[in-house]
Amino acid sequence: MVPIGILASGRGSNLEAILDAVDNRYITKGEVKVVISNKPGVPALVIASKHNVPGIVIDDHGFPKKSWEYDQKTIAALKSHGVGPKEGLILLAGYFRILSPEFVTLYERRIMNVHPALLPAYPGLEAQKQALEQGAKITGCTIHFVDKGVDTGPIILQAPVPVRDDDTVETLSARLLREEHRLYPEAVRLFTEGKLVVKDRRVLVAS
Ligand code: GRF
Repeated sequence: MVPIGILASGRGSNLEAILDAVDNRYITKGEVKVVISNKPGVPALVIASKHNVPGIVIDDHGFPKKSWEYDQKTIAALKSHGVGPKEGLILLAGYFRILSPEFVTLYERRIMNVHPALLPAYPGLEAQKQALEQGAKITGCTIHFVDKGVDTGPIILQAPVPVRDDDTVETLSARLLREEHRLYPEAVRLFTEGKLVVKDRRVLVAS
């Protein structure tokens, strides 16, 4: 079993998709050990408790958006729940912090993120707004490993989503989310079954 720690900051819909995938046995080789939020009182914590997964708040009030000092608290909590750098998997699920390079190095190729665009297009914040403003006809979502940059790590899975003429940020985001909720559990399943092989920047899926 791969021990999984999920870091979230807010709504937690991707978190819920992964917890559902474990509950309904789509993911059978991974176990979510802990959910950590950098904000108190967020819906993600309610979702964790609904699924009987320990939810922890490590309040980042007063810390910069990227901080090794803060990250060490998160790492201590992950380790104390059995999510260590040798065997664990960390999932960023709407986690609105940037990981320090020390954190990324410690858990190299063991941290995943979901991004609502086809990277390397539209990295960073408000990816849906960026796609609309560019007049893109197709956008999508990406599951990638986290490296030291922002949204720059090796791509694991991607799914395209059409942009409609009458789309707003809200309607496009909703259509993207449906794909995110399908793709993230798939990536976790592949990782936990040992099927992801990383060669330089390319992530190959073994059959
Ligand atoms: C999603 O759009 C995800 O792609 C982005 O942040 C949002 C998180 O939503 N990284 P949720 O908290 O999973 O509902």
